[in-house]
Amino acid sequence: MKENVYGKNVFVTGASSGIGLACARLFAEKGCFVTGVSRNTAETEEAFEGGGKLVMKKLDVTEEEKVREFVSGLPGVDIAILCAGMGVAGPAETTPSEMTRKQMEVNYFGTLNAAQPCLSRMKESGKGLLIVIGSIAGRVSIPMQSQYSASKYALEAFTDAVRMEMRKYGVRAVIVEPGDTKTGFTAARETLRGEDGYSRTLEKSVSKMAKDEQNGRSPLSVAKTVYALSLRKDPPSRVPVGFEYKLLMFLLRLMPDRLKEHILSKMYLPG
Ligand SMILES: NC(=O)c1ccc[n+]([C@@H]2O[C@H](COP(=O)([O-])OP(=O)(O)OC[C@H]3O[C@@H](n4cnc5c(N)ncnc54)[C@H](OP(=O)(O)O)[C@@H]3O)[C@@H](O)[C@H]2O)c1
Repeated sequence: MKENVYGKNVFVTGASSGIGLACARLFAEKGCFVTGVSRNTAETEEAFEGGGKLVMKKLDVTEEEKVREFVSGLPGVDIAILCAGMGVAGPAETTPSEMTRKQMEVNYFGTLNAAQPCLSRMKESGKGLLIVIGSIAGRVSIPMQSQYSASKYALEAFTDAVRMEMRKYGVRAVIVEPGDTKTGFTAARETLRGEDGYSRTLEKSVSKMAKDEQNGRSPLSVAKTVYALSLRKDPPSRVPVGFEYKLLMFLLRLMPDRLKEHILSKMYLPG
């Protein structure tokens, strides 16, 4: 059986729900010592058969100094899985800057706040695996999710640079790109309401997103993809989750932008 090649100390953000929770539990079931964090979690400790452990702590990834301090106090950081995130929906024209800032604070700066001290710990020990949870929306921009897509495109750029910079220190970086996944993400989405001229558009696009997510893959399937990366010394740069999304990404790469945008508009916007 293949072994995790990075080490047993695993740090997971957004570990109280959905993809983060599934990752935290799967790594603990595989015998790892997992520390999971989120804002609204009970502080618990659970032992697993096979010697693994899951410790849950309260931490808001937007609080940079607290995150640095927290990560520097961990016994070790061999694998970091950065899942904490949320989505805002609204028209690109009118989404207010407070909503955009919140989106970036959590998805981009929150990930950055956690990634930086983890990278320092990994560099010190000469090995490590950084796994950023991006999205298919970080490869194609979705109408009415411009700010969410922007936050995930930003994570693609960040992770690509990290991969190049940290390779010589034995540290690997991968961005995992889930498509629709059935989690608490749908209920946590913040949607701009009452926008002049956009109510029908928002209704169609947000109800499609919600329906697709709730009929989507299980968070465990994402966790299994993440776990498989820990078995590879040289993991790929970016990994869409599931055959259907791998195929979609391949096809979209071959399409002219105009055709790609026509298809996405048909999917998410009223005629
Ligand atoms: N579900 C999908 O269809 C889908 C598709 C593609 C990508 N993704 C990405 O997958 C990641 C995980 O989302 P999910 O689908 O598993 O949603 P979820 O079930 O809502 O989980 C989100 C997690 O992030 C935590 N979180 C949110 N803000 C935080 C903050 N400021 N500090 C610390 N933790 C915070 C939440 O816990 P607290 O509320 O307790 O803080 C929760 O544990 C996100 O980055 C999302 O963008 C999801």
